[in-house]
Amino acid sequence: MKLSILSCAPKCYSTRRLVEAAKERGHSVKVANTTRLTLDLAHGEPDLYYKDSPIIRPDAILPRIGTSLTRYGTSVVRQFEQMDIYTPNTSAGIGNSRDKLRSLQILSRHDIGIPLTAYVDDKRDVESALKRVGGAPVIIKLLEGTQGVGVILADKAEIAKAIIETLHSTNQQVLLQKFVSESKGKDVRAFVIGDRVVGAIRRTAQGQEFRSNVHRGGKAEVIKLEPAYAEAAVRAAQIMGLRVCGVDMLESASGPQVMEVNSSPGLEGIEGATGLDIAGAVIDYIADQVKFPDIDIRQRLTVSRGYGVADINIPKGSKFIGKTIKETELRDQDVVVLTLRRGSSVISNPKGSRVLEADDSLLCYGRSENMKSLIPDNQPKKRGKLKPLPTTPVTEGTTL
Ligand SMILES: Nc1ncnc2c1ncn2[C@@H]1O[C@H](COP(=O)(O)OP(=O)(O)O)[C@@H](O)[C@H]1O
Ligand SMILES: [Mg+2]
Repeated sequence: MKLSILSCAPKCYSTRRLVEAAKERGHSVKVANTTRLTLDLAHGEPDLYYKDSPIIRPDAILPRIGTSLTRYGTSVVRQFEQMDIYTPNTSAGIGNSRDKLRSLQILSRHDIGIPLTAYVDDKRDVESALKRVGGAPVIIKLLEGTQGVGVILADKAEIAKAIIETLHSTNQQVLLQKFVSESKGKDVRAFVIGDRVVGAIRRTAQGQEFRSNVHRGGKAEVIKLEPAYAEAAVRAAQIMGLRVCGVDMLESASGPQVMEVNSSPGLEGIEGATGLDIAGAVIDYIADQVKFPDIDIRQRLTVSRGYGVADINIPKGSKFIGKTIKETELRDQDVVVLTLRRGSSVISNPKGSRVLEADDSLLCYGRSENMKSLIPDNQPKKRGKLKPLPTTPVTEGTTL
C-alpha cells in the first residue's frame, strides 16, 4: 500500500515508528507536512497539492494532527475523504474529539461512563452548576487543553468561581467537572485500533500532582484491562468515529469514566510500557482497511432524489410485531432494512425470516415518501443504551 502520514513532526518518536513499521512490512510510506498540503476545489474534482505539485494518490492516509492545527488539519483530512482515500480517523471524528465539551456531549447520550460535567456561560449560573457537579474540590478544564495544561483542581468553591470568572474575562471557555477523587493522580489510557484495545497503561502522577499526564511527570505501567474498561474504550472510539485512538479513562468507584478520546495518540509511552509493536498493529489495520473508505452513509444514500435513510422504531402495539421482515412487505414499498437494533445488539443485514419484536429499531434505506408513512408523528425518541453500529464497513470502497 501507498501510505501518507500527515504530520508536522517527522522526527518525533511516533512518526518515526510508524514509518519504520510501514517499511518493515514492505509498504511505501511518506510523511507529508500537513501545513504544506493545499486544497483545490473544482466541480467534481477535489484535489490536493503538496508544495507545488499535485499529489500522487496514496491508498491511505494516517492523520497525526496536532492541537495547534485542528482547523487546517481537519480540512486537509476532509479533502482526502472527498477523494475517497482511506483514513482511519475521519475529519469529523478528529474535530469532535479535539473539543472536550463536544466529545462529552456526544458520548453522554450513550451508555458510557463520563465524569459529571457542566458548561456555563453566565457567572450567575456558576454556583448552582458547581453544586450539581458535586461542589469543591472541583476540576476546571479548558475545552481544548492537552498534556495536562488547562486542567485545574480548585479546592474551594470561592476559588473555583474566581478562576472561572478570570478565564471567562479572557474569553476562555471552561468545563466544570466532578473531581473523581478515588482516581486522584491516576488514569488509564487504552490504545484502540479498529474494534479492539491493543494495549493499555495506567499513568500515575508523581508527588502532589493530581494530573497523571506523562508530560507532567506521570509514570506509566502496563495493565491488563478489565472487560468493562475495554468495552467502554472501544465503544467511545466507535461513537467518535476514530479507528486509531487513545481513550483516557478515570477509574471511578462506579467503573470507567471516559475523559477524552485522543485522535493522535503518542506511541512512546504505550510501546515503552507494554513492549508491544503498536505501530505495526496500526499499519496492519490500515492495510486491511484501504478498500473501505469511511463514508457518510446518510450523505451518500440521500443523493438519489426521493430516497433517504430513516430509523423506524417498532413501538408496543405496532402491526409489525410478530411478523418477519419479509411479511412487513417493506421491500415491496422500496424500503430495505440495513440493520436491526435490539437492546444493546445490532444485527446487520437482517434476514427476511427475522421476526420483529416490540422496541426493535430498523435502520432503513428507501423511498422517503413510503418511509414517512411508517413513522408515527409522535414516534418516541429512543435514548441512551444504544450500541453504536459495528465498525464493519458498510460499502466497498471506490477504486483508488
Ligand atoms: N474529573 C477528574 N477527576 C480526577 N482527575 C482528573 C479529572 N479530569 C482530569 N483529571 C486528571 O488530569 C489529567 C488531565 O486531564 P485531561 O482531561 O485528560 O486533559 P489533557 O487533555 O490535558 O490530558 C488526567 O489524566 C487525570 O489524571
Ligand atoms: Mg488526557
